[in-house]
Amino acid sequence: MKAGRFITLEGGEGSGKTTQIRLLQSAFAAAGTDTLFTREPGGTDGADQIRALLLRADAESWDDVAELLLFYAARREHIVKRVRPALAQGKTVICDRFADSSRIYQGVARGLGDDFVLSLHRLTLGDFQPDVTLWLDVDVEAGLGRTQGREAGAEETRFENQQRAFHHRVREGFTALAAREPQRIARIDAHQSIAKVHADIIHALNNRLGLNLPVMQEA
Ligand code: TYD
Repeated sequence: MKAGRFITLEGGEGSGKTTQIRLLQSAFAAAGTDTLFTREPGGTDGADQIRALLLRADAESWDDVAELLLFYAARREHIVKRVRPALAQGKTVICDRFADSSRIYQGVARGLGDDFVLSLHRLTLGDFQPDVTLWLDVDVEAGLGRTQGREAGAEETRFENQQRAFHHRVREGFTALAAREPQRIARIDAHQSIAKVHADIIHALNNRLGLNLPVMQEA
């Protein structure tokens, strides 16, 4: 069914995902690969509307299960309408966050449990999973320190505003998940320089998917 590769990026606050995705875009462009870069929650008009409901600092304080259902409503729209069609055309799809975020933020940090989230995943998306997940791992304090500067005027801060203990549960959750699924999840040490993190990402993708992506120089 799935002709193209599905790659996801995960990481806690301030892990540098945005910068790394920009570099990754250049690398795929340089390799001439037909790619779709996208993100969750979002990626379709409806999913972007759900995104606003979930992430704005002044958003409703959702019940935990309702929050998970909203993430999955957005995900189902996004996967069915954009991601699967792109994969079927043989495109490589690179997605900023996916189901692991639900397993960790809602399953672990909110406490709904992995089985609960996985059951919902199976009901809505079957066994659809990424070929490779890059987890940008950064210490909670270092990560929150990096996000400080950009808070002024930021609107989508409902999760960043969670207590420190929440972010610690997120990191512990990813650590445990990466240990359980090492064949899918590549841990990238995001404490390093931007250039080194980028090089590690490229090597992980080349090794795991048999690609030949170039390491880009920072613009
Ligand atoms: P975003 O502004 O995209 O932040 P980041 O740069 O950290 O990716 O916000 C996404 C937030 O939503 C992030 O804090 C994690 C959270 N989230 C969940 O709790 N569950 C999910 O399933 C997804 C996709 C995201």
